[in-house]
Amino acid sequence: MNKHIYITRKIPESGLKLLKEKGITFDIGKSKNPPTKKEIIKILKKKPYDGVISFLTDKLDKDVFDACPTARVFANFAVGYDNIDVEEIQKRGISASNTPGTSATAVAEHTVAFMLTLTTRIDEGDRFMRSGKYKGWDPNLLIGTDLKGKTIGLIGAGQIGTEVAKILHYGFGSNIIYSDICSCVELDNIENTTRKTTEEILREVDIISLHVPLLPTTHHLINKESLSMMKKTAFLINTSRGPVIDEKELVEALRNKIIRGAALDVYEFEPKLTRGLNRLPNIVLTPHIASARQSARDMMSEIAAKNIISFFETGKVINSIIK
Ligand code: DGY
Repeated sequence: MNKHIYITRKIPESGLKLLKEKGITFDIGKSKNPPTKKEIIKILKKKPYDGVISFLTDKLDKDVFDACPTARVFANFAVGYDNIDVEEIQKRGISASNTPGTSATAVAEHTVAFMLTLTTRIDEGDRFMRSGKYKGWDPNLLIGTDLKGKTIGLIGAGQIGTEVAKILHYGFGSNIIYSDICSCVELDNIENTTRKTTEEILREVDIISLHVPLLPTTHHLINKESLSMMKKTAFLINTSRGPVIDEKELVEALRNKIIRGAALDVYEFEPKLTRGLNRLPNIVLTPHIASARQSARDMMSEIAAKNIISFFETGKVINSIIK
């Protein structure tokens, strides 16, 4: 196949192998850090690339599409695609894809690990030991709470939310309440699982976990008002997209003990942190690594490559982001 694509950063060999087998050639961006939009534009202007494999850190908008009009397919190496201007690709008839299903297990396990970290205070114990404060067993030291028996609220019941529900139900016997625009048959079939409104979830549960895509309707879904509806003892977890939470208000809520704690893998102004966030004792932070498993990354690489191949062979991607 006489096609040449640009891959903005290194991806696992599994996808590159598929491209090579089809004779698709590629250039790969060399920078370790996410390239800026300016850098992407500069590179795309150099050659008439036929397509691009992009990442969630690559902002793909009008300026990028203008820089390389020959590229008619953009395969995002991610499940989320809020980095892509969907209206613009629709207007231009460009094809774009994502990698659905590749990270559900990884992100669900990371989410449950967050829940256990918050309830057992493992992170605080680790910091305590490293600081040399341990002077012997103390019956009152770092008292946690049980995860078993807690009511968990899932906002968003897609593949990741569903996986989280299964681990919690079968592993911990949790009661699950979820909210979503439509009901999820797989979840409805799990005992002690009910669908309620987001407001009911905010008011009723012990742990809230966010699993919604970033859309205008989910931007700052968690804000001052919603935080004030939560129980004082509740924990908030976000492994979806940072701007779903108004981070400034979260800092205030944690500082003033409006809620008990939080765990975040994603940030409103990623990679920057809102002032004060990393100084709070009642928050656990990880650097957007919930899907960082070799198995997930290999699958993402293969699916991105398959979408590129499918586009060149049939004119259509397999996992179009235009529904
Ligand atoms: C995704 O796939 O959208 C994750 O956020 C990164 O892997």
